[in-house]
Amino acid sequence: MKDASTNSNAKRMAGEAAAELVKSGMVVGLGTGSTVAWTIKRLGERAREEDLVFLGVPTSFQAEHLAIASGIKLTSLNQHPILDLAIDGADQVDADLFVIKGGGAAHTREKVVSCSAKRFVIVADESKFVQRLSRPVPVEVLAFAIRLVERRLQSLGGSPVLRQAMRKDGPVITDNGNLVMDVDFGTIQDPRALASKISPIPGVVEHGIFDNVDELYLARGDGVEKIRRSR
Ligand code: A5P
Repeated sequence: MKDASTNSNAKRMAGEAAAELVKSGMVVGLGTGSTVAWTIKRLGERAREEDLVFLGVPTSFQAEHLAIASGIKLTSLNQHPILDLAIDGADQVDADLFVIKGGGAAHTREKVVSCSAKRFVIVADESKFVQRLSRPVPVEVLAFAIRLVERRLQSLGGSPVLRQAMRKDGPVITDNGNLVMDVDFGTIQDPRALASKISPIPGVVEHGIFDNVDELYLARGDGVEKIRRSR
């Protein structure tokens, strides 16, 4: 079992390694979470130290504020609809590079940003890497629709739980003003098939299964392994 500092060193290694992918002139999607936070901080350093000139598109309130604090210039998808690269973390990633995201409730914007990018890179430590996805799938839902969505998710074999806030009474409210259900489907044999059944449920804004990852920067031992999508 790894201790928390080993994990945090691994996150840093993966996050900083991916920051080297950014070149001057690029427009880059900036993900959310503690691993990609290292990417964002390193990009801020590179912008100062190397005259690296690029624009970032943040995926959340957290990413936006960290990017600003790091001195990164920002833009929007309206101004730059096609990104050169998006870098983000993951909650779980399997050997085929299917990913579960949304542990920080940011997966809707993360999906829009990553699908707007020519190349999508995930940064993660080894604890995230599994043979088959099995974490509960975060599903962002319109508050108005939670009862319908709950029933439909149950009929797909899931056990939905409304995510509760930690330091506020009541549920988590996303950056988009919606709620999040964490839906346990056990081991997911076919992530793409499951995703295609969740998406059409009325009231579902977005789910946290991603099938668009091009490359994984996985911190393992003393190094960062780069795994490309083969499917
Ligand atoms: C945000 O909603 C998630 O998709 C994050 O990208 C994910 O939770 C990764 O977070 P850590 O890097 O903090 O583990």
